[in-house]
Amino acid sequence: MRIVIASDHAGFDLKHAVRRHLVDAGHEVVDLGPDEKARCDYPDYAEKVGHEVASGAADLGFLCCGTGVGMSMAANKVHGVRAAVVSDSFSARATREHNDCNVLCLGERVVGVGLALQIVDAFLGATFEGGRHAGRVNKIMDLER
Ligand code: RB5
Repeated sequence: MRIVIASDHAGFDLKHAVRRHLVDAGHEVVDLGPDEKARCDYPDYAEKVGHEVASGAADLGFLCCGTGVGMSMAANKVHGVRAAVVSDSFSARATREHNDCNVLCLGERVVGVGLALQIVDAFLGATFEGGRHAGRVNKIMDLER
């Protein structure tokens, strides 16, 4: 899969762990920044990842900040993005299967690296089930229009 990833300063270390994990699993990963851990604003990076995913240039996006919350709020403002902040593997799988989530957000101050990588694997191992969920996802997307 072609995956884009980004963070702010508070999610910087987790981003690198996730990026390494994704590359090791054979994915094509593009890191959209930042390149250093200096203080920065998470909406700037949520926007970059959101546009890549919404345009179809990337299949999925990953965003890391302190809590994952700010990243998810910002990314969901980009038309076509369905971002979810997740701290457990069950929700990670369900948000792919039921919500067709295309941007996963993680909080470095919330989850440890071990759990974060389990969450990533659960997310990537799941696929959207469609069916009854498709109409609900369409209703979410209708809210953007
Ligand atoms: C940065 O201090 C922090 O606010 C940010 O990383 C994130 O947690 C926001 O939701």
